[in-house]
Amino acid sequence: MRTIMLMNSKGGCGKTTLATNIATWFADDGAKVALADYDPQGSTLDWLEARKQYEGIPLIEAVDATAKPARPARGTDLLVMDAPAGTHGRTITDMLRRVDDLIVPVLPSPIDMRACNRFLQELLSNGRISRNQTRLAIVANRVRENTRIYQQLEDYLGHLDIPFVTHLRESQNYIRSAESGLGIFELAPSLVWNDVELWDPLFAWLNAK
Ligand SMILES: Nc1ncnc2c1ncn2[C@@H]1O[C@H](COP(=O)(O)OP(=O)(O)O)[C@@H](O)[C@H]1O
Ligand SMILES: [Mg+2]
Repeated sequence: MRTIMLMNSKGGCGKTTLATNIATWFADDGAKVALADYDPQGSTLDWLEARKQYEGIPLIEAVDATAKPARPARGTDLLVMDAPAGTHGRTITDMLRRVDDLIVPVLPSPIDMRACNRFLQELLSNGRISRNQTRLAIVANRVRENTRIYQQLEDYLGHLDIPFVTHLRESQNYIRSAESGLGIFELAPSLVWNDVELWDPLFAWLNAK
């Protein structure tokens, strides 16, 4: 079973948004996907609950991982793990134990960038990451292209030794997706095409092994 985790010690940067959308992309592609929520806020589990109202869309298994280790059903191809905010130190090591790919979403905001810098240093000093057992990538989220703050973020991320794989736009489509229980890939193509294409580099990175 493959495992992808979304993590950033900072809240509100898009961990749940990326987790739910990555899960739907692979599920729509025919994989048997489970989505594990490590956050007591339970936003991922709420989203999966909303998803139950539809028929004929791929099933994604809900795994509550707040209290006990995530144990998805037998035969699961992919486990997507949504980490809570405030993850540091030993907890990072414990959480990364089974993770193949770690994605860190970052917002173009001074506070988020400073917090992210400290968090990335913590990740880089983690044995699993320095030994390349867990691959690490960054995704900029809620981006308004052509703003100065995004230029600063791009500049900062471009100088790191960590792949900065793509940016996702600030878009109402993510709010629609969060409300509805659908992934943005499952919304009307005419509505989402310019958001969807920005995901391509991320899936290319995930599929490059
Ligand atoms: N690219 C985006 N465009 C617009 N809203 C977004 C985007 N990404 C996330 N959001 C919204 O921002 C809020 C925080 O995102 P969320 O994924 O819950 O962050 P986290 O899980 O890291 O706390 C949510 O209301 C979410 O719908
Ligand atoms: Mg969350």
